[in-house]
Amino acid sequence: MVSLLENPLRVGLQQQGMPEPQIIIIFGASGDLTWRKLVPALYKLRREGRIPPETTIVGVARREWSHEYFREQMQKGMEEAHAKVPLGELWQDFSQGLFYCPGDIDNPESYQKLNTLLKELDQKRGTRGNRMFYLSVAPNFFPEAIRQLGSARMLDDPYKHRLVIEKPFGRDLASAQSLNQVVQKYCQENQVYRIDHYLGKETVQNLLVFRFANAIFEPLWNRQFVDHVQITVAETVGVEDRAGYYEKAGALRDMLQNHLMQLYCLTAMEAPNSMDADSIRTEKVKVLQATRLADIPNLSRSAVRGQYSAGWMKGQPVPGYHEEPGVAPNSTTPTYVAMKFQVDNWRWQGVPFYLRTGKRMPKKVSEISIHFRDVPSRMFQSASQQRNANILAMRIQPNEGISLRFDVKMPGAEFRTRSVDMDFSYGSFGIEATSDAYDRLFLDCMMGDQTLFTRSDEVEAAWQVVTPALSVWDAPADPATIPRYEAGTWEPTEAELLINQDGRRWRRL
Ligand code: BG6
Repeated sequence: MVSLLENPLRVGLQQQGMPEPQIIIIFGASGDLTWRKLVPALYKLRREGRIPPETTIVGVARREWSHEYFREQMQKGMEEAHAKVPLGELWQDFSQGLFYCPGDIDNPESYQKLNTLLKELDQKRGTRGNRMFYLSVAPNFFPEAIRQLGSARMLDDPYKHRLVIEKPFGRDLASAQSLNQVVQKYCQENQVYRIDHYLGKETVQNLLVFRFANAIFEPLWNRQFVDHVQITVAETVGVEDRAGYYEKAGALRDMLQNHLMQLYCLTAMEAPNSMDADSIRTEKVKVLQATRLADIPNLSRSAVRGQYSAGWMKGQPVPGYHEEPGVAPNSTTPTYVAMKFQVDNWRWQGVPFYLRTGKRMPKKVSEISIHFRDVPSRMFQSASQQRNANILAMRIQPNEGISLRFDVKMPGAEFRTRSVDMDFSYGSFGIEATSDAYDRLFLDCMMGDQTLFTRSDEVEAAWQVVTPALSVWDAPADPATIPRYEAGTWEPTEAELLINQDGRRWRRL
């Protein structure tokens, strides 16, 4: 790991709390992500005075756009998606720092042209050779883009040149390993920022604080007191206009292997020695290495996939996955996946972790719930009352917060009990805890802080866990064998069984 003293950019940030001026080069700049998330996040940072005015953005894509046209497109995008953000004088100034360079991923000349532009911009805008190359292209182009950047010597300086790679990082263990090899051929690990935007969310970062800055929970955070853990990321949206990408990804690759497994790691890992990037990432790798699907020989007992069929959302009929534009009529791509993990370590042996994610669920909600063991004696149990064990729920989004469920006595002569929630809501701070997370991730990357980015061994360990499911699910299958759930309802019956077989049930959110 590079120490602060060795890394001049980090020394700069420590002293001033602001990153050095740099050029952010977005590959795939004509795609939605650029105007929806990336440019708005950088503009937000600029408005908040957290990045210097010299910050420069260069969009790269195949279309023959001019600098001016690129600026107009970004402004249109801002006006459309961020109507509440005033675009006054500051935007005029910020947009003067937007440039565009048409180019082909696999054409070395495009990189020569880009390099010339970057050098000119260094002179014009005072960006001092600092570069962040942000790969927001289709994942199959990642290796070629990195090879070309490397061959053009544009990644040579381990302190001034950074590489940001959007998810998904590989589509299975073998492809992630081979992508890591390409990355490692041209970059040192401290130059590489593998994005998982869930790590940029306030509530996700708060998991570390909640677990390790409070002494009262840690003694309970283990097999002695915890019965099981559930991690849910439910979405109401369908595949939208992304079938081209989603058909090849599906819920396991799109969500579970990355976003849910990050939530899983932060919940299950041991306390890191310190809050530096490598200590945290090492603990995440350790817990991933101890994790496996609970019952690999009988896959359906630990992994279930599903696809939404036509249904109703908010009173409107919505099509099934097979009827969505761009989806093959015989597609077996899962839009839902549930898994049961077993963790072979001292802390968690015998405590199952159930993870589930799906599109077209009744509600958009992401939550981690820790279900504690029940009391040993049933003193208050009677036929007329239903008791629940204690649950600690960490709400990632929306209505960000934490609640602890416990039983109280109902007022009255009898000993009747009732479950109540003690609740903390982020709203009570009066500050928005929700953000697209990209602003935080940009800032950290510009500062050279890798804590919120995944390390090479971490990505590989996460793929390793889901490999037994992938190897079965990737084989051609009769679409009729894929479990269905109606759009606007929770999981397919098979996923209910996955947890019911253990005498537990999914939390209704
Ligand atoms: C993305 C997935 O990574 O995360 C999308 O590709 C998904 O399919 C999105 O909708 C969910 O993110 P968030 O922040 O809305 O929970």
